[in-house]
Amino acid sequence: MATTQVTISPEELKASQHSERSPDPCVVVIFGASGDLTKRKLLPALYHLEQAGNLPKNFAVVGVARRPLEETFAADMKEGIETGGGVEADDPKLDEFVGRICYHQMNFDDDSGYEGLKELLTQVDAKYGTQGNRLFYLATAPEYFSDIVKYLGEHGMNQPPESNEGAHPSWVHVIVEKPFGHDLESARALNDEVNKVFQEDQIFRIDHYLGKETVQNILVFRFANGIFENVWNRNYIDHIEITAAESIGIEGRGPFYEKAGALRDVIQNHVMQLLSFVTMEPPISFEAASVRMEKLKVFRAIRPIHIADTVRGQYGPGMVDGKPVVGYREEDRVHPRSQTETYAALRLEIENWRWAGVPIYLRAGKRKATRVTEITIQFKQPPLLLFKDSHGVGGAEIKSNIISMRIQPDEGIALRFEAKVPGPSMNIAPVDMDFCYSKAFGVSSANGYERLLLDAMLGDGTLFAHRDEVESTWALLTPILQHWAKNPIKDFPNYAAGTWGPSTGDALMELDGRHWRKLGNAGNC
Ligand code: BG6
Repeated sequence: MATTQVTISPEELKASQHSERSPDPCVVVIFGASGDLTKRKLLPALYHLEQAGNLPKNFAVVGVARRPLEETFAADMKEGIETGGGVEADDPKLDEFVGRICYHQMNFDDDSGYEGLKELLTQVDAKYGTQGNRLFYLATAPEYFSDIVKYLGEHGMNQPPESNEGAHPSWVHVIVEKPFGHDLESARALNDEVNKVFQEDQIFRIDHYLGKETVQNILVFRFANGIFENVWNRNYIDHIEITAAESIGIEGRGPFYEKAGALRDVIQNHVMQLLSFVTMEPPISFEAASVRMEKLKVFRAIRPIHIADTVRGQYGPGMVDGKPVVGYREEDRVHPRSQTETYAALRLEIENWRWAGVPIYLRAGKRKATRVTEITIQFKQPPLLLFKDSHGVGGAEIKSNIISMRIQPDEGIALRFEAKVPGPSMNIAPVDMDFCYSKAFGVSSANGYERLLLDAMLGDGTLFAHRDEVESTWALLTPILQHWAKNPIKDFPNYAAGTWGPSTGDALMELDGRHWRKLGNAGNC
């Protein structure tokens, strides 16, 4: 089927890569800079911003970590940027950019290191003209977040230095990586500690899903079009499914994942954020306060989730992409009788006028058959089946309409509807009308970090989580986590790597007479 056609010119498309908003000169200070995230995601994202002309001319990066990496850090980051893609072999801008990367070695819980950092930042301001503006990025293990915030406050780095040579007042912003707490109590405690040192509008709790084009497009799809919002409710929608499936395992992150599990790692943040975008009321503007308020209303309207509406799973050995892989309990630094779930599924309901009675099914897992994140909106059958004597091809049932939003890969949106099969009988078959991002716009979508780093420099919190949102999602999930912790499961592992998860996950929908939508490659992308 023909795909969607874009009606803007290539020049307009190119111009849209350039942000109309330009950040002030600033230095990005990354704590935990020796970790994978910095090299694989953050530095490539910053460099893409530079290439698109979205970084200020006066800009610098300071990596902070415990290891002595002064000699190798910048070169290592250069390699990360090159591997990240989109860099020509002898790109002249790259060396100039890498020349503005410095490194500071310190222990995060050592008071004396912070004085050295403060001095270094003064030198950076003098050398690169960054005018006292700082974006701190906490990319360390979560147990260091409190210490870092506390010491930044004690050393006066939560406020810009007094000498301000810029045209605007200087600013200090702080991005906090996930996981933001591991349950309601710890999230509240962390929020209290961070809020003691930084004002709420200085804090940017990051969820990289909100930086993805396809996630922001949910709002555009719903609120920039006149035809969908009228049917976006309990009168027309039968149910909603959100799947975040990964074919990868835990990628050497045993100690982290043992304490996390699928519910904490992906559902509490990424999946809940997707849910809020799909179900929230139209905000009065696209400003942080309005968008966050509508998201929060959704989280607060979710009815407490019954344990019977939850499923957990853990992968055993299996085959992924034709290759044998080990089970979770055989992964490096994982307990041989681990109770950590690598799959979680939930059924929930939002109790408000728009959604009451519409079941919402969420699932996330590692080592699934394929990598796909998708939102499925399944509509109700028409009230009268005019064609009840006709049937789908091969006698299949006539299907309901579906809008599927493919977050990744093969980013796009498809509408499934029934069509008459050519021929003398009234045979009916489902067809898809597809919008595929890469085909329509001819550009691959950026990794979420680009947009979010830019927004944090600009002080725009629209795509970041407010403390109330984080606490509301923890409030919903903490009772489940507590129940699971007290009630170990006997049949772990309960699904083979490379499959769609445990049979209990399918049963969650089957009990309601429904089935998870089969997710493969999106047809048209
Ligand atoms: C991270 C999780 O937040 O998101 C990882 O900690 C997961 O376990 C990752 O693999 C998924 O992100 P993406 O963008 O690849 O879907």
